Amino acid sequence: MALRTQVGIVGAGPAGLVLAHLLDQAGIESVILEARAREYVEERVRAGVLEQGTADLLDAMGLGERMHSEGIVHHGIYLRFRRESHRIPLSDLTGGRAIWIYGQQEVVKDLIEARLAAGQQLLFEVSDVSVSGFDGDSPRIRFSRNGESEEIECDVIAGCDGFHGVCRPAIESALTVYNHEYPFGWLGILARVPPSTDELVYTNHERGFALHSLRSPELSRLYIQCDPHDDIANWSDDRIWDEMHARFATNDGWELNEGPVLEKGITPMRSFIVQPMQRGRLYLAGDAAHIVPPTGAKGLNLAVHDVKLLAAALTRWYESGDSSLLEAYSDACLRRVWRVQHFSWWMTSMLHRLGDADDFENQLQLAQLDYVTSSRAAATTLAENYVGLEDV
Ligand code: APR
Ligand code: PHB
Repeated sequence: MALRTQVGIVGAGPAGLVLAHLLDQAGIESVILEARAREYVEERVRAGVLEQGTADLLDAMGLGERMHSEGIVHHGIYLRFRRESHRIPLSDLTGGRAIWIYGQQEVVKDLIEARLAAGQQLLFEVSDVSVSGFDGDSPRIRFSRNGESEEIECDVIAGCDGFHGVCRPAIESALTVYNHEYPFGWLGILARVPPSTDELVYTNHERGFALHSLRSPELSRLYIQCDPHDDIANWSDDRIWDEMHARFATNDGWELNEGPVLEKGITPMRSFIVQPMQRGRLYLAGDAAHIVPPTGAKGLNLAVHDVKLLAAALTRWYESGDSSLLEAYSDACLRRVWRVQHFSWWMTSMLHRLGDADDFENQLQLAQLDYVTSSRAAATTLAENYVGLEDV
C-alpha cells in the first residue's frame, strides 16, 4: 500500500532537512527519503561558514542552541597576497552583520535529531528512488527499502537530492543547463591542531590558492588549490604541510601550526545552474539545481535560501489555494543564485592561479586584490556578499 503525505522530499542534506522543518512549523506534513545511512550523512565533512541570514533562520527554527555554544562568530576575514595579510572588516562594513563558523555536518546533525525527536518521517538507506506523476496532480516517489518496493503519493515533490540525485535528471531535458568547470580543484584537510589564525585566511600565491579555515579551538580546516584529477594517494601528509607552508608564508614570520591529519580529499570545482528550477509539481532546491565553487562559502547558504522560499510558497498554497508564489519559485530563487554565482566566480578568479593565465592576468589579480583591500567601496562589495545580501 502506498504511503501518503503532503510533500515528498528526496534527500536529507541541508536543503531537504531545513525544508521539512519549515513545513512542519507551518503544519504541513512531509516524508524525507535519504539514500545514505544516518552516520554517513552526519559525518560527511563539508564547508563550515553560515551567513548571518542562515544562522538567524536556524535560530528562528529553534535549532540554534548548539550553534551558539560550539560555533564561533567571525567579524572579518583576511586576504593574503604578496606575503602580506589584509583584513576585510566584514561587520564594520555591513552594519554589524557577521558569519558563523559551524560545520555543515553539525547543522545536519542538529536538524536530524530535531526531526526524529518530533516523531517525523525520515527514512535512511532507501534505494532505486524514482519520481513520476508531477506533470499531473498525483506525484509519486517509488523506492526500495530493506529489499521491498514502496511508494509515496504526495501533492508535490521537493528534489533536494544534491548534484548527483535523480530529481534533476528526471526533468533535465526541459531545462537550460549552464555549466562551467574550473581547471583546478581543492585538496582539503581536517587537522587536529589549534588554528594558526583567528579569522579565515584566503591566500593568492604563485603556487596556487590556499585557505586556512577552522572548526573549533582544536580543529583546523585547510585547503590548497590542486589538479582536480590528482589522486589523493599522491599527497602524503608531509607533502600537504610543505605545500601549505610555502603558500601561507608571510614576510612577518607568521607560523603555521601542524598537527595530525584526520581527513583529506580532493574536490573538483564547478559553477552549474539549471533553469527553471521547477516543472509541474516537482521543485528542485540546493545542489540539485546549482553548484557554486566553494571560494565564497555559499553552497549551504544558497540551499537554505531556496527552501525558505519553497516553504513560504507551499504554506501560502496550502493555506489559501493561491499558487502564485509556487509559480514564481524558480524566478525568485534564480535572482539570488546568479548573484551568488557571480560572487563565487569572482572570488575564485581573483584568488586562484588560473591554468593558462599569463603574467598579465596574474598582475590583474594583484591589482584587484590591492583595490579590494584599500578601497572602502570595493571592500564593502566583498563584505556584503560574503555575509549574505539581504534583499536578493
Ligand atoms: N535518493 C535519496 N537521497 C539521495 C539521492 C537519491 N537518489 N541522491 C542523493 N541523495 C541524498 C544525498 O545522499 C545527500 O544526503 O541527497 C542529499 C543531498 O544533500 P547535499 O548534497 O548536502 O545537498 P543540499 O541539501 O542541496 O545542500 C547543499 O551541501 O554539497 C553541499 O556544498 C554544498 O553546502 C552545500 C550543500
Ligand atoms: C570551510 O571552513 O570549510 C570553508 C570556509 C570558507 C570557504 C570554504 C570552506 O570559502
